[in-house]
Amino acid sequence: MAGRVICFGATGFTGRLTAEVMVRAGMAPVLAGRSAEALVDLTGELAGLGPIDRPPTWQVADAQDPDSVRALLTSPDDVLVTTVGPFLRFGSAAVEAAIDAGCGYVDSTGEPTFIRRVFEQDGPAAERTGARLLTAFGYDYVPGNLAAAHAIDDARRAGRVPSVVEVGYFVRGAMHMSSGTRASIAGMVDAPPFALRNGVIAATRGEVITFDVESREWQAMPVGGTEHFTLPRVDSDVRDVHVGLGWAGKWTKAAHGAAGAVNAAASMPGVGGLVRSGIERVSGEETGIGPDAATRRESSTLVVARTRDGVGRELSHVVVTGPSPYDLTAELLAWGAAMLLNGRARGAGALGPVDAFGMDDFVEGCARMGLHRVD
Ligand SMILES: NC(=O)c1ccc[n+]([C@@H]2O[C@H](COP(=O)([O-])OP(=O)(O)OC[C@H]3O[C@@H](n4cnc5c(N)ncnc54)[C@H](OP(=O)(O)O)[C@@H]3O)[C@@H](O)[C@H]2O)c1
Repeated sequence: MAGRVICFGATGFTGRLTAEVMVRAGMAPVLAGRSAEALVDLTGELAGLGPIDRPPTWQVADAQDPDSVRALLTSPDDVLVTTVGPFLRFGSAAVEAAIDAGCGYVDSTGEPTFIRRVFEQDGPAAERTGARLLTAFGYDYVPGNLAAAHAIDDARRAGRVPSVVEVGYFVRGAMHMSSGTRASIAGMVDAPPFALRNGVIAATRGEVITFDVESREWQAMPVGGTEHFTLPRVDSDVRDVHVGLGWAGKWTKAAHGAAGAVNAAASMPGVGGLVRSGIERVSGEETGIGPDAATRRESSTLVVARTRDGVGRELSHVVVTGPSPYDLTAELLAWGAAMLLNGRARGAGALGPVDAFGMDDFVEGCARMGLHRVD
């Protein structure tokens, strides 16, 4: 039997956008979530968007009932796409089910601690079962992989060795967050960022990273992404990777200082637990809320990557632009799922976009969704 694509979290904001892309593309996704009533309504609403002979179907699964998530997967050819977050709270059942089934898995997390878990713990388990795990396969952190792969290639073509890669994630226009993004950010406050330093992943507060684009200085706050794990696979001479988020604009330095204070406080005995229990209360209270299509059109993706040699000289600088972060995330999740479903991925374990699909297919797939290099 040919594999199926399961869209877990389809009734949420990002899940619905993703399900729409899948239905329009004729992927006949299984819409999965915890409410049968919401799934029936959604399936009816989306059915008209795609080919009449490839309608979506639905199945109930609850992230807090791992057996129900396992029951979504019936074949190693299946692909489980999940937008059920915050992932530190709700993400385990899906990734573990995909590993057990040896199938494809794509998630929308942006949470550094969950990303690190997928690469360090789940990846080796997935290699043993043949599962392919694509974590953080949205605005965070796919465009940075694209920009960095181009920047590494530019440096190599110039005969230079790219030892250091710095990546900055920005949004042009106002950043309007979904309910899920807000809950996930709340879940990140007591997690210190990590970076790749001299070939080793280590927790670090890091420094604000600055980039010059369009005659303007853009500042990014250090964060743990996928690039720390994936870029040394693109080029084994890459020893240092720094990734930053620039949503805070001119407040980036202040936000970095405040985050450091929260991290420090959360590491004090008893305080981390209080921070986390506060998070548990705010997360998951409201779902499915986010910017409408007109508001999303007011923002777009801008991501920068820069390489340096071992003594800090800049070698290359690449800018990629694309659609609004939420539309881009939906397109990327659906594209990653289609590539896995159609047997266009290689390797097993926790994969980055370049090692899973190769540079040519990755660049072409991104270009089709409007994510491409401009400089
Ligand atoms: N990396 C990126 O660039 C990027 C972009 C967008 C989103 N995200 C992340 O994706 C996640 C979802 O965001 P969102 O905006 O879609 O949030 P959302 O609208 O709050 O959706 C959350 C979804 O999780 C579901 N859910 C919650 N608890 C569940 C459980 N126990 N079992 C099954 N489903 C459960 C909700 O179901 P109900 O509908 O039944 O409430 C809802 O469908 C967040 O972690 C967000 O940070 C990342």
